[in-house]
Amino acid sequence: MREVASLNRDWLFWPYDTPSAKRRVANERAMYEVCLPHSNVYVPWHNFDDKIYQRISWYRRHIKIPARWRNRRLRLTFDGVMIAADVWINGKPAGAHKGGYTPFTLDITSLVEFGKDNVISVRVDSTERADIPPCGGVIDYLTFGGIYRDVRLTVSEPVYIADVFVRPGARSLSATVTVANDQAYARETEVVLALGGKTARETVIIAPGERRKVDFALRNLTVRVWDLETPNLYDVTASLDNGDRVVTRVGFRQARFETDGKFYLNGKHVQLFGLDRHQTFPFLGGAAPARLQRRDADILKRELGLNIVRTSHYPQSPHFLDRCDEIGLLVFEEIPGWTHIGDAAWKEVSKQELREMIVRDRNHPSIVLWGVRINESADDHDYYTDTNRIAHELDPTRQTGGVRCFRESEMLEDVFTYNDFSNGVQPPNHRPYLITEFNGHMFPTKPFDQEERMVEHALRHARIQDAQMGTPGIAGAIGWCAFDYNTHRMFGSGDRVCYHGVMDIFRFPKFAAYFYKSQLDPKRTVVLEPASLMKQGERSGGGVSEMVVFSNCEEVAVCRDGVEAKPILPDRAGFPNLPHPPFRVPDPESYPWITDFEIVGKIGGKIVARKKIAVDGIPDHLSLTADAHTLAADGSDCTRIAFALTDRYGNIQPYATGVVELTVTGPATLIGENPFALVAGRGAVWLRAGQEEGLVKVEARTPYHKIQTVKIHVK
Ligand code: GAL
Repeated sequence: MREVASLNRDWLFWPYDTPSAKRRVANERAMYEVCLPHSNVYVPWHNFDDKIYQRISWYRRHIKIPARWRNRRLRLTFDGVMIAADVWINGKPAGAHKGGYTPFTLDITSLVEFGKDNVISVRVDSTERADIPPCGGVIDYLTFGGIYRDVRLTVSEPVYIADVFVRPGARSLSATVTVANDQAYARETEVVLALGGKTARETVIIAPGERRKVDFALRNLTVRVWDLETPNLYDVTASLDNGDRVVTRVGFRQARFETDGKFYLNGKHVQLFGLDRHQTFPFLGGAAPARLQRRDADILKRELGLNIVRTSHYPQSPHFLDRCDEIGLLVFEEIPGWTHIGDAAWKEVSKQELREMIVRDRNHPSIVLWGVRINESADDHDYYTDTNRIAHELDPTRQTGGVRCFRESEMLEDVFTYNDFSNGVQPPNHRPYLITEFNGHMFPTKPFDQEERMVEHALRHARIQDAQMGTPGIAGAIGWCAFDYNTHRMFGSGDRVCYHGVMDIFRFPKFAAYFYKSQLDPKRTVVLEPASLMKQGERSGGGVSEMVVFSNCEEVAVCRDGVEAKPILPDRAGFPNLPHPPFRVPDPESYPWITDFEIVGKIGGKIVARKKIAVDGIPDHLSLTADAHTLAADGSDCTRIAFALTDRYGNIQPYATGVVELTVTGPATLIGENPFALVAGRGAVWLRAGQEEGLVKVEARTPYHKIQTVKIHVK
């Protein structure tokens, strides 16, 4: 039987380059005890030196290798070490890896001592190494550092399943199971593939050291399709007669960009509507645990109503992709890079990263396109001919794209993927054609920007999404971007933040998020979000002469003293292609501004939503919420603790700049700033579980508001 042990706990960490840490016996007294995922430094959410994480650090872990594992194979897998790793076992070199976004596995069988304490030492180089993509030039994001994803040990028989690649058809499944024989003699093995009640088997003789690919086909399966509404998933089990067993999740779906320019999922046209995502988080850098990765996918699909995300500009967390599979969110995944192409050796590392990405992720039904170019790089015929070939060889089922920002570019991919920063939609010059970025640096918008800018930011997203939907030959548009992100000095607003998100870095919405959300089907969520603070002096010229409302209702009406004014219909003339065009409410003000503002949304003539904004604008309420109320006692599970100053109806007051002080009792710690100076009236920190069970209480206070408390169970 195969045993898989998480090695996320009990690491020792030293944030300086100390070569003696590779030895079997080393001075560990000063080292810190940490759990993975781990960031090599704590990063403030903004205004920090972007070199702080660019350092060499060391990790050590003791591990007892029981005698019963003698004669078995031990493989150590790192899901992500930023950006280069050298690994020793008991002081002996075990291997090295370049590239922080893809996993690597080392066979450590010959290096361990059975029945004894063993030591894993890892030297982690988190400098922006010019020899490793995406580095070498200047990139508009931060790579951060550390062993920032999971680590596990897999113990199996010497004949074991090294890989499973499933290729679902409509009611059938092809699969290739790679069986490894790490014994000194040939082995006859029966390989079985099973799904539901159907099985297929094959007996093969595998030579010593061989990696044998065994092909299977299962037919006439009774399976339901994987699609956006019902992302049905099934477990496929590959097993060997020695008990080795690997379960792979599969979704039955057909995804294709066709020459009519459209994207089809299971034969049905789906207009792609998405945003780009960076995987980084305030304070944690890249080291966000599964819960936060998964929640981002939920936000994109359920809070923003997207059907596709681009993992700009690198392979993202396996937990994020798992969640995309589970909720039906399509993914365009791309190799690490940003405009710069290095020398021949650099390109070899890039191709290796491409291979590792595809082998890691080709079983995810959510992934519908591989990005095989360095984002916005120049044409490079030989390099990109190779990356396309590698992608097609490793995965004949998926098409390739490659993101460029100039139109006269050599088209080596299957889909022309283009960043259109024209502040409009250019007619497609290739088919298939997908817009992979727009907006971004054309209109950076902070959550505390003046209201008119926030509204225009939202409308730019609305106009471009509307235009793409109405332009023949365009498969869809992915906007820049979902969340504000940390970046280098020369990008963003100088405070190390790029304010290009429709949500801020803490995942709070800006008005642009309301535009996306308003495209949701009202049967799922009714949305009614006025894009205004309804404060007379906030607008140029004074007074709110027009209010944009993002809603999926059929009509909206302002109420004055409880009396509904004339209903207003969505601006279909201005946005002919959107499912739910924004509303433009002329002259909504309730002059002389003495009563609270109220608006209602109706469907089928009935009021289905109501929104009030307090006229006094007093931030009289401190809100405090936890996204999750139960955490795992694993030393790394986290939830967001969010707080805000709101009016009496729960509307965040973006110019409230108070300070919130937090206290925590129980087995958890806060990761973030405390006290926290509110940004745009709100803020957030992470609550990280300890390794003990218990009840955690978080209290938030300001000098002026009622103290708020949330409770979280660590189990
Ligand atoms: C693009 C780039 C993105 C981001 C964006 C900002 O050119 O691909 O990574 O920098 O600009 O608008």
